[in-house]
Amino acid sequence: MVEHYPVLHREILNFFKNIKGKYIIDATVGGGGHSYILLKELKDIHIIGIDKDDYALERANERLSPFKGRFSIYKSSFKDLDEIVREAGLSKVSGVLFDLGISMFQLKNRRGFSFLRDEPLDMRMDKSQMLTAYNIVNTFSKIELEKIIREFGEEKFAKKIASEIVERRKKKKIETTKELADIVYHVYPPSLRRKKIHPATKTFQAIRIAVNNELNEIKIGVNKGIDILEEGGIISVISFHSLEDRIVKNIYKERKRLKEVEILTKKPITPGTEELRENPPSRSAKLRVAKRI
Ligand SMILES: C[S@@+](CC[C@H](N)C(=O)[O-])C[C@H]1O[C@@H](n2cnc3c(N)ncnc32)[C@H](O)[C@@H]1O
Repeated sequence: MVEHYPVLHREILNFFKNIKGKYIIDATVGGGGHSYILLKELKDIHIIGIDKDDYALERANERLSPFKGRFSIYKSSFKDLDEIVREAGLSKVSGVLFDLGISMFQLKNRRGFSFLRDEPLDMRMDKSQMLTAYNIVNTFSKIELEKIIREFGEEKFAKKIASEIVERRKKKKIETTKELADIVYHVYPPSLRRKKIHPATKTFQAIRIAVNNELNEIKIGVNKGIDILEEGGIISVISFHSLEDRIVKNIYKERKRLKEVEILTKKPITPGTEELRENPPSRSAKLRVAKRI
């Protein structure tokens, strides 16, 4: 069964196919989908794959096994990708790829990311970290919860949702994704409950971002990705919501102002009709690419 389609893989391949050097960092190796295609199509490259999720690393190792000797896998956050590059004995690389967010197998694997299932509230990509969604929902103050839901979810009912969470948890701890999703659902006015997007979508996005410190790590990781590129090297970032995309866009803009990169995508590239048909969840993907100068 195909559980994760590498999003925008044709476009990614196109940008990487003319790189001069050998080393490409796949900063979010996940199930190894993009790396597999790059290793298959570009015979001279070596992939340095990074992920903070042990299960993803297992899958990547298995998926990429036909290319033994041409890839190395590291458990880490991509915010430390400069250290990984040093550990690999390199100073610069020719390409860096980020495919942000989580993959289908994380969503489907009882990791507490999904409001469509009833699972323990967890949402950690890295199971060895202490902070979970359960901690945030059950211990953070009303003000902290509201701030997270408003800033990371861009949710207009943030204040009400935070108040309701705090009321409910006085009676009983909020333990599962379904309990949290139901709270948000009932805060929404009835006329807005049955829209195409589930009312809990934004709240879940916000809590996931907070659990995994996602936006900070993206800022650090993408900047370091540009720092370690050799001249002519390519950085590609696929993002899945406006907060991520804005960060990437602003970093490229700033590094262009400093005459460090040329932006190769004036507008972000989005999936075409064929990809949308094959893989509907790719609909929110946006790809931005820059070249180190
Ligand atoms: C959308 S998936 C990548 C899928 C992959 N491109 C493929 O084709 O199989 C995103 C992956 O990035 C990982 N990830 C997200 N944030 C990370 C971070 N800060 N550091 C390392 N890995 C991260 C997640 O654990 C997940 O496996």
